[in-house]
Amino acid sequence: MSLTSTPREPEFSVDRLFLERWSPRAFAAEPIAHATLMTLFEAARWAPSCFNEQPWYFLYASEEPGLTKMQSILVEKNRLWAKRAPVLALVCSHRAFKHNGQPNRLAAFDAGAAWMSLAIQATMLGLAVHAMGGIDAAAAYKTLDLNPEKIEVHAAIAIGRRGDPQLLPEAVAAQEGPSARKPLAEMIRVID
Ligand SMILES: Cc1cc2nc3c(=O)[nH]c(=O)nc-3n(C[C@H](O)[C@H](O)[C@H](O)COP(=O)(O)O)c2cc1C
Repeated sequence: MSLTSTPREPEFSVDRLFLERWSPRAFAAEPIAHATLMTLFEAARWAPSCFNEQPWYFLYASEEPGLTKMQSILVEKNRLWAKRAPVLALVCSHRAFKHNGQPNRLAAFDAGAAWMSLAIQATMLGLAVHAMGGIDAAAAYKTLDLNPEKIEVHAAIAIGRRGDPQLLPEAVAAQEGPSARKPLAEMIRVID
């Protein structure tokens, strides 16, 4: 399936990469090579962060029994389709700055930048990623042995190659495809 067959039209000139990234629910079962997966995390590694703290922390599974553990922390609606993805990851961040132990109020912002770097690198490699806020956070802390006082769990991500939408449940298949965006004018305001 070509990643260039996007119907998205920008209002202004933008690199096609930003239009070609979208979040599929149909994943092919085909595994992702370890080196490729590390390339995605490497892209995340170079994201900017407040005080260069790099507060993001990714947990991932690409084999059993880790995959089943990761699937178990997804809400049912997401597990329905994400169970086919060959890699599941969890985006977390450290709640406190390492240099002074104070709360890092920008950790989520930085983790967001890291996840997007990963997503863009994946798109460049012809891979697909889909973020999921629909997780059972309490189950994630317990199942993955994370300290909730130190780590904040943000979202899960499915990583793989796009698959056959016909294998999805009908209601899910109907949502498959690149989505539209609000007009740019609703997102920006000039200060004069
Ligand atoms: C933080 C975050 C949480 C999301 N949670 C879910 C989710 O739980 N389930 C789901 O199917 N999609 C989820 N999505 C995907 C969004 O619905 C999707 O990114 C949005 O509709 C825009 O579509 P696009 O990514 O294809 O451009 C999430 C995306 C983000 C960034």
